[in-house]
Amino acid sequence: MPSPVWIQKLLPFPRLLWPSLLLGMGIYHFVMTILEALFLDRQPAKVFNLTYVRYKAFARMWKKNGAAMSQEMPGPLDALVGKCRGLILDVGPGSGELLKRFNPEGITAIYGAEPAGDLHEGLLKNARTAGFGEKYHALLCGGEPESLIPALHKSGLLGSSGEGAIAEDGVFDEICCLRVLCGVPRPRETIKGLYTLLKPGGRMVICEHVVNPWRTEGSMAARVMQFVYAAMGWSFFLGGCEMQRDTREYLQDAGEWETFQLQYVQPKNVVPYVVGELIKKR
Ligand SMILES: C[S@@+](CC[C@H](N)C(=O)[O-])C[C@H]1O[C@@H](n2cnc3c(N)ncnc32)[C@H](O)[C@@H]1O
Ligand SMILES: *[C@@H]1O[C@H](CO)[C@@H](O)[C@H](O)[C@H]1NC(C)=O
Repeated sequence: MPSPVWIQKLLPFPRLLWPSLLLGMGIYHFVMTILEALFLDRQPAKVFNLTYVRYKAFARMWKKNGAAMSQEMPGPLDALVGKCRGLILDVGPGSGELLKRFNPEGITAIYGAEPAGDLHEGLLKNARTAGFGEKYHALLCGGEPESLIPALHKSGLLGSSGEGAIAEDGVFDEICCLRVLCGVPRPRETIKGLYTLLKPGGRMVICEHVVNPWRTEGSMAARVMQFVYAAMGWSFFLGGCEMQRDTREYLQDAGEWETFQLQYVQPKNVVPYVVGELIKKR
């Protein structure tokens, strides 16, 4: 039985307000992080370092809610990560909640570039549970070249081209960017750097939320709400996550692709995703 018309009319509303739950959660963990620094660690000086508090708070939130927020993933993500093969870079794996969706069999090694040290314990635990054992390497670094390249160099993956912050040749068979590009610094440049690290013919797996495509298949109301949430401190309280990034375009511009297959998932939402795979030109 269809629901009454007035309920159908109300339905778009809650949908636009969904992100406020997440924002509220971010604010809660921000406050708790400050209280913990003051009364638990008794290190009030920490509170004055906003960068510290912001990222500590995000790690706190992800530790508590990351698993719940990974139960349902948008679109065909399972099929995409299920066929990952070879040498893999996972950018910002968090606590590795998605690792059980990979198939360790064809994977030679995974390097996870995770700058939040607080999440590494959970990450390594989930890597073991998912059957990766020695094949998983957690790097304490971000996906931006100035952080990633020295870390790869140190781990022995990059030869002489890893000197400084440039890598000239492709290294990885596949690179996974799952819910991370919304928060990396200088996304255009960072994504170009990742493109460079991909071998010719290599594959990039993408699952990222992006600016609402309101001009085409998206929604104007959702696009407006993205401004509203941004103004309410979305990025500040959620570890630097930006809602209005045109990550799809940055990926397109990063270099030449043989295949560029990205589909919008729930394009009318305030947090619409693009999910798919890109193959670098041979
Ligand atoms: C929303 S979580 C997603 C984690 C995981 N990819 C997943 O989908 O379950 C974003 C992760 O990116 C990490 N992160 C933040 N800044 C980053 C950067 N510059 N480079 C790489 N990862 C970063 C955060 O610490 C966090 O673990
Ligand atoms: C603030 O915290 C960040 C992140 O933990 C750290 O890198 C930075 O050095 C700190 N700044 C100061 C002034 O202590």
